[in-house]
Amino acid sequence: MRTQLVPFSPNATALAAQLLQAGQVVAIPTETVYGLAANALDGAAVQRIFAAKGRPQDNPLIVHIANEAVLYQIASVVPPAAWQLAKAFWPGPLTMVLPSAGTVAPQVSAGLPTVGVRMPAHPAALAVIQAAGLPLAAPSANVSGTPSPTTAAHVLADMDGRIPFVVDGGACRVGIESTVVSLVDAPVILRPGFITQQQLAQALGTPVAMAAAVTQPLAAGEAPASPGMKYRHYAPRAQLVLVQGGFEEFRGFLEQKIAEMPAQNPADNGIVALCFSGEEDRLPVPAIAYGAPGDEAAQAAGLFAALRALDEHGAKQVYARIEQADGVGLAVYNRLLRAAAFRVVHL
Ligand code: TXA
Ligand code: MG
Repeated sequence: MRTQLVPFSPNATALAAQLLQAGQVVAIPTETVYGLAANALDGAAVQRIFAAKGRPQDNPLIVHIANEAVLYQIASVVPPAAWQLAKAFWPGPLTMVLPSAGTVAPQVSAGLPTVGVRMPAHPAALAVIQAAGLPLAAPSANVSGTPSPTTAAHVLADMDGRIPFVVDGGACRVGIESTVVSLVDAPVILRPGFITQQQLAQALGTPVAMAAAVTQPLAAGEAPASPGMKYRHYAPRAQLVLVQGGFEEFRGFLEQKIAEMPAQNPADNGIVALCFSGEEDRLPVPAIAYGAPGDEAAQAAGLFAALRALDEHGAKQVYARIEQADGVGLAVYNRLLRAAAFRVVHL
């Protein structure tokens, strides 16, 4: 299959809508990451998403809509909390999990009685949903397990030859996937994102819980609240270890790691640092930055491109400097933890 990449325009929107109506898979930009979209009402179309991504069949997809009223067709119960959150944060990087009305194809919910719904803020995503006149199921447009794509080039790197069409909307503003909050019972965050726990609690006027699996590995045999929690994610090919501490401690840690290496050309040891911008030239190993220190929004926007750059660099062992993990920083920390399979060193 030839993959066409076309910049966002009325023409690209019309072509994408035609393909979607015909049951094909199209990659579209959203403000969070690029999505791999298909008609959520058509089981065969949704199945093509799973095939293109190599996604485990038991991991459900988010349904993207462009009009709040569609929520009533997709969810069987729309509690007042859902309205409050839609009013506060849609269109935007928030997904709500609600009881399913059973109108979307069963593959979308992967056998669960619930469905995740989001109204994205990117004009290209909204235009394509509107032109297609369909709710679109769309996971992140990466091959399962690799970092989510935040540019059309990332999408092509994973999807060239697997899908017919990519709408290029430039680099994604947010850079990490939406906050996922379940409203099936008391509100609980299943995946942290750019919309924070504090913002959700403020909009609802009630506390919002955080699933333990956001920062801890699932116990053996524990059933995840969200199937996505059980898979390794966002991972570069290199082994990644998170290192919590200040810059000087991080530099000392890397110097010690080099000293521990068997004698060889230090340029060949495959160690690469993931650090904050401005630190790259002051470390004893090659380094790639993921955002300015203390600027969590910039770190979120740069994270997945940095993880992909580590692979391009041929890194074998990566040490990633991390700081405090609250607010948007928690979402960044959650992605890094999964990429590192929960390996963390505290200095
Ligand atoms: O920002 C985003 O959410 C992006 C863009 C494209 O919208 N999409 C995205 O989709 O990140 P995906 O499939 O990569 O991640 C969806 C996450 C998975 O962890 C999945 O398990 C969870 O949401 N999820 C979806 N439906 C669910 C449901 N009914 N119950 C619990 N978790 C659900
Ligand atoms: Mg994903």
